[in-house]
Amino acid sequence: MDLTAHQISKKFNRRVGGANWFYAVQPTDFTLESGKLAVIYGRSGSGKTTFLNMIGGLLQPSGGRVLLGDTDLYAMSDKELSAFRNKTIGMIPQGSTALGSLTVLENILVPAMIYGKISAEKDNYAKELLDTVGIGLLSDAMPQELSGGEQRRMAIARSLINSPEILLCDEPTGDLDDENTRSVLELLREVADKGTAVLMVTHEPEAKNYANIVMKMDGGALKNA
Ligand SMILES: Nc1ncnc2c1ncn2[C@@H]1O[C@H](COP(=O)(O)OP(=O)(O)O)[C@@H](O)[C@H]1O
Ligand SMILES: [Mg+2]
Repeated sequence: MDLTAHQISKKFNRRVGGANWFYAVQPTDFTLESGKLAVIYGRSGSGKTTFLNMIGGLLQPSGGRVLLGDTDLYAMSDKELSAFRNKTIGMIPQGSTALGSLTVLENILVPAMIYGKISAEKDNYAKELLDTVGIGLLSDAMPQELSGGEQRRMAIARSLINSPEILLCDEPTGDLDDENTRSVLELLREVADKGTAVLMVTHEPEAKNYANIVMKMDGGALKNA
């Protein structure tokens, strides 16, 4: 499923110069096809997270439209959008979002539980994903026992549990050493190669070596890098 954004923008209220608002993201077109991995670079505060959240159905744009296939994300009701997001869009948010009272395996199953019962099949798939991301032996551990790299892999496995068509990653290698950074990038490349459309915003210079598309966010304006 391809993702297309038409002239999406986000204004926030803040006194900047003579105005009471500013564009965190200026009106932007963007397309991402299945099987492609896109990387957006940009310094802190340039609008990357705002852009990603609009693309992912988490933040209503001030203007413009986001289409996933034929579905117009923000034309749906909140309830419809939540269900659609859960099924279609995987998200690896910035920082750690593990639920501390659940095991690693249970954390991964959370997105699958929200709209359905856990089948034996899902349970097996979760274990398979843990093996894929290289933490199969940690399924019964608690998240706080994991290293930064292991927590990141857990977040990746969780984002994949519902087999999303789109995967959005906000600085997925943020706090990782070189070796873990490379293995996470390889993993995201494999996800794209299996047909998912992957978009990553990052500071990581290595990321471009795994990308089909490289862009740059600068003061809310998205440009080809
Ligand atoms: N809810 C908000 N209200 C007002 N300003 C915001 C809000 N969210 C983000 N911003 C501002 O928008 C700009 C872009 O933020 P963000 O998208 O988080 O940047 P990045 O992810 O590139 O670091 C920043 O100047 C930030 O302070
Ligand atoms: Mg950010």
